[in-house]
Amino acid sequence: MADLSAFIRGLPKCELHVHIEGTLEPEMKFRLAARNGVELPYASADDMRKAYGFNDLTSFLKMYYEGMDVLRTEQDFYDLMLAYLERAAADNVRYAEIFFDPQAHTGRGIPFAVVIGGLARAQMDGEIRFGIRTRLIMCILRDQTPEYAMATLLEALPYRERILGIGLDSDERGNPPLKFGEVFRRARAEGFLLTMHCDPDQPDAVGHIRQCVHDIGVNRIDHGVNAIEDRLLCEEIKGRGLGLTVCPCSNRLIGGGSKAEIVMRMLDLGLRVTVNSDDPAYFGGYIADNFRLVAEETGAGREALLQLARNACEATWLSRAGKDALLAELEEYARSS
Ligand code: HPA
Ligand code: ZN
Repeated sequence: MADLSAFIRGLPKCELHVHIEGTLEPEMKFRLAARNGVELPYASADDMRKAYGFNDLTSFLKMYYEGMDVLRTEQDFYDLMLAYLERAAADNVRYAEIFFDPQAHTGRGIPFAVVIGGLARAQMDGEIRFGIRTRLIMCILRDQTPEYAMATLLEALPYRERILGIGLDSDERGNPPLKFGEVFRRARAEGFLLTMHCDPDQPDAVGHIRQCVHDIGVNRIDHGVNAIEDRLLCEEIKGRGLGLTVCPCSNRLIGGGSKAEIVMRMLDLGLRVTVNSDDPAYFGGYIADNFRLVAEETGAGREALLQLARNACEATWLSRAGKDALLAELEEYARSS
């Protein structure tokens, strides 16, 4: 496993499911709190970590939104993104499509321009310093109204060259994809690519995945492991070449296990399944840790792990040439390691 662990760390990776706000480590929360004069209800970063006792999506989200309160200035968003990119470089992430949640900031009075300005400046510096190319995906909060979602989409239009796609996250219970049908139609018409969270084992999980595929016409599915329960749906997902962005460490802490076995079954079915990190500061694992968890739980070897990494190259929203450049790097690694 020591060997396999090094192989995993060095594997050139694409990260397709990471929430930038979910990379906010307790140590950085304390630094930003001090800088911004915010009081935290914990004595130390370790105390804060110990208080992360979630057991489902709702209890995780409560911590996640509370934690963001320390993010106030353009520099804060810059520091957050740059720290993530430095950490991702240690796992040999070569390319990342990164979620951000503007409503979690505009809703508490932080201007959209402050959020995207800091993130974009760090993306440029991060590419130069760490060699990681990145794009942003703007997520809509599904437990807010469609009207607020539409207003946020319109607010994003002046920044459209900085945003590759639109996603849907937050609490899925009672908030199906179709609640945002009109918003996502408009987003597509504006030229954005589309993805949506279909978190594991949510009420009507398979129905939500069907809505994503049939009604919304997504270009990717975030999580989506419950598709395995419906053979026809799997065939449609495969036929459309849709990537599925599974996050084993996140699944493990949110309840119901890592779903690593489902990742392997999806791989066997020829689905474009990928492994990602979701909210690594909360779920205790960056992308290499997620690959390791799959290997430990299923016995997956080099060839399966390579295929997961290949799937991620194909599931990116890069051009054919962009995907091929990443795939060539991966094949070179496979030959030489
Ligand atoms: N699911 C839904 N919403 C989220 C998540 C997640 O895993 N992470 C951050 N927002
Ligand atoms: Zn997520």
